[in-house]
Amino acid sequence: MKIGITYDLRSEYLKMGFSEDETAEFDQEGTIIAIEDTLNKLNFQTERIGHLKQLVSRLNNGDRWDLVFNICEGMYGNGREAQVPALLDAYAIPYVFSSPLVLSLTLDKALTKRVIRDAGLATPEFFIVNNPADFEKVKLPFPLFAKPMAEGTGKGINGKSVIKTKEELKEKCLSLLSEYKQAVLVETFMSGREFTTGIVGTGDEARAIGTMEIFLNGNAEKDVYSYTNKEHWENRISYQATVGKDKENCETLALEAYRLLGCEDAGRVDIRMDESGVPNFLEINPLSGIHPTHSDLPILSNLNGISYEELMAMIMNSAIQKLKVKASK
Ligand SMILES: Nc1ncnc2c1ncn2[C@@H]1O[C@H](COP(=O)(O)OP(=O)(O)O)[C@@H](O)[C@H]1O
Ligand SMILES: [Mg+2]
Repeated sequence: MKIGITYDLRSEYLKMGFSEDETAEFDQEGTIIAIEDTLNKLNFQTERIGHLKQLVSRLNNGDRWDLVFNICEGMYGNGREAQVPALLDAYAIPYVFSSPLVLSLTLDKALTKRVIRDAGLATPEFFIVNNPADFEKVKLPFPLFAKPMAEGTGKGINGKSVIKTKEELKEKCLSLLSEYKQAVLVETFMSGREFTTGIVGTGDEARAIGTMEIFLNGNAEKDVYSYTNKEHWENRISYQATVGKDKENCETLALEAYRLLGCEDAGRVDIRMDESGVPNFLEINPLSGIHPTHSDLPILSNLNGISYEELMAMIMNSAIQKLKVKASK
């Protein structure tokens, strides 16, 4: 089976002149090598494709694949994560991970929270700040948390994201609005413990493969799993596999959210407890990072006794299962 691999290589974009922050979500060469090597070990033939525009020219050349392993995050627009799957759909080429609908919806954290809340799942209360004057309209009690509506990898998140006064709210909202040119999501600050849960599979076959708790060490930026804490996780963060009731509560929430949103093959749900210890949905990552030792999904799998190769095999089995279901229709 010939598997094409689509990805946004960070070094290529840096060479094109994009900044560290603009390329923060993109992948390093090591991730692509790990995906290739592991797929080869699992007896798949692989071929590198690259980013959206490289995919466009390959398709124009007449190249085709049995399946595409897609981890492109995209560069422009609020459909950026959906662009590669949408193009592959147009050519009837199947791909691993979620559909354009899921990838567009989940990039917008507030719209996703509306769907989550509609299903009765716990998520922090929120208000959307669209322009500088809007911060005056926030009626939620402090402490609050502010983040860009549609980013990942902790972009725009730092010590100043935890907000205790109206003055701080104004300052953070104005700086996020001007830096990220998008709405700011203001939420109730969840003061409890933080977890992330990994899910593999699609629909009824989807299952939680483990949960880990995120502990910030003394030298970490306080209170938040921020961009800098994520970048320097080796000495700032400790991870621990979650067990017992906490595991059960997080995994029930994560699995319900994953199925409700229609995610496919694999993903990760970020969770934080409120002051009474109730797990709340923060966000879902249907294109969760997949570097074997630096990304949360492989780290949490490993802590729960699942090797990188086993994780990749589970993801591929899910994608191939989808192909079989489609073929039988
Ligand atoms: N409402 C909140 N209350 C407390 N902490 C939060 C809240 N929202 C986000 N955070 C912190 O910020 C981190 C990043 O937020 P998240 O929505 O997961 O964004 P990203 O897409 O950048 O991972 C979380 O892992 C958590 O530490
Ligand atoms: Mg997150």
